[in-house]
Amino acid sequence: MPGSVLQDPAIRQKAEALLARMSLEQKIGQMTLTERLSVTPADVRDFHLGGVLSGSGSCPGSNRPEDWVAMNDAYWTASMTEDEKRLAIPLLYGVDAIHGHNNVRGATIFPHNIGLGAAYDHDLLKRVASVTAREILATGVDWTFAPNLSVARDIHWGRTYESYSEDTGIVTSYAGEFIQALQADLGTDGVVACIKHWVGDGGTTNGIDQGDVALSIDELETVHMRPYRQAIDAGALTIMASFSSWNGDKCHGHKFLLTDILKTQWGFGGFVISDWDGIDYLSEDYHDAVALAVNAGIDMFMVSENWKDFIAHLKRHVQRGSVSKKRIDDAVSRILKVKLAYGLFDKPRPLERAWSNHASFGSSEHRSVAREAVRKSLVLLKNEKSLLPLAKNARVLVAGKNANNLGHQCGGFSIVWQGTCGNEMVEGGTSVWEGIRQVAANASLSQEDYGADADPAQHDAAIVVIGEHPYAEGLGDVREGNHLIVEAGSQIKGSINVLRPYGKTLELASLHPEDLRTIRTITEKGILAVVVMISGRPLVVDRELEASSAFVAAWLPGSEGHGIADVLFGDFDFHGKLSFSWPGNGVNAPAGHRKSHAPLFPRGYGMTYLN
Ligand code: BGC
Repeated sequence: MPGSVLQDPAIRQKAEALLARMSLEQKIGQMTLTERLSVTPADVRDFHLGGVLSGSGSCPGSNRPEDWVAMNDAYWTASMTEDEKRLAIPLLYGVDAIHGHNNVRGATIFPHNIGLGAAYDHDLLKRVASVTAREILATGVDWTFAPNLSVARDIHWGRTYESYSEDTGIVTSYAGEFIQALQADLGTDGVVACIKHWVGDGGTTNGIDQGDVALSIDELETVHMRPYRQAIDAGALTIMASFSSWNGDKCHGHKFLLTDILKTQWGFGGFVISDWDGIDYLSEDYHDAVALAVNAGIDMFMVSENWKDFIAHLKRHVQRGSVSKKRIDDAVSRILKVKLAYGLFDKPRPLERAWSNHASFGSSEHRSVAREAVRKSLVLLKNEKSLLPLAKNARVLVAGKNANNLGHQCGGFSIVWQGTCGNEMVEGGTSVWEGIRQVAANASLSQEDYGADADPAQHDAAIVVIGEHPYAEGLGDVREGNHLIVEAGSQIKGSINVLRPYGKTLELASLHPEDLRTIRTITEKGILAVVVMISGRPLVVDRELEASSAFVAAWLPGSEGHGIADVLFGDFDFHGKLSFSWPGNGVNAPAGHRKSHAPLFPRGYGMTYLN
């Protein structure tokens, strides 16, 4: 078990020996993690910083692996300076590689977790994790804020797609295996994982991002904690606190959750990080917030910009005794142990590492794993008169706003935080249309809005690719009726904002009327339509289902759109099963509250060509 490395006496001794040589400034520096735009290599050296991160979409140079390696080399070299004032302690660089190394141009971008949950294939999952680790290593990075172990219980939540399933069992069964494949042998082939967001982020009332989880301890344990236990037993080295609250108390200041359960009861030996300026909401007085968080059990602090203030506040607390030296030593020894266990001290500088700038980054070998993941994640919900599979020589009109849009099919957390639109930013991938074109020589892409160029004399069938456009975090929330808008919730760059949610309903026909219009424009001419929906969650699609002859939930497939053509044209059968129950009209209640309404399709549903 990789995690047991943290108990290794040799690692402990090394950490203790190093700790004994460290000044208070050096210790507090190790507890600080900030964003690359707020910090220079000289700062890393002079303030002994423990880590630097890329906020989602924050990329060096022209965002190629070599730019990342060069940036990491500069930070790493600075952190390894040793003189009378400094100790050489290599920094950890962290990224949100949550579906492949999704920030970097030319990376292999996998389906978001909701698709991997539908695929429910453990061997595939492990290969996804290994490829992700290698692409991260190709950029000189050692740490990813993944996997997300949320159990999304309400599809109104904008982060539903980051969750494998609404079912704790599915998330738990993936958790340990993903960790083992991602962290691998620790050091050469793997990267440090950071499981998130501890705990209950997927269980907030009404699915409000960063909202409140109103559950008993037993419910919290049974539904939301179990995957974490599995991941920690499998050796997860770091964990991120959740922005959300539990019965009104913010997780970032929750000693019971962060220390008593994780560290004391479960014996977690790694370190806990805060989310992006996540401690800012603990108190109106930042000075108090720092003490509350550190005393609750946060070990490393993600501070987007004002990290020097954080350092000054924490130092004052230690000098005054409002934070004990013992707590500081505990936090720092955890950070050092993770760095030692991962072998960070033994690695050469990023420029000289074997995996840095490796040719396998974005390679066809890596992309074939993603393509397999795409085809296995597709769920067939309807196939009237066996319209699917389509014949490869059929004259198929391909229409719909998501047909030729790599940005949309990748979703949020792809190149930039909120995702992109169009084919330009996602390099090396294949849109759904481009994949179809490769197998179906007589297919054509509609050139008119709403598929108005559909013509029964020219088209045997249509594939209409519909659905959501990209979003991330609270901007993806659907807030219905009187769902309250959480002012103290979502925030960007440290200031509290009320984010505009994605919409007010889960009904696609209201959210995106253009989709139904496109389907109908085509079908009213007598052409049968296969509808492929790109979305980060199930949606109420009764009307679109009715208008179509076949309907496929494709989730957010990522860069390898041809995985869809593989299945639509019969080279492979459907494999995916819903990992979320699918709501019917008027059934917008969250999982667990749907007792009186049977879902339109239950979890586990998914047709194949054989049945
Ligand atoms: C998200 C985290 C992410 C962090 C760093 C936050 O807004 O909640 O999931 O890891 O930003 O980008």
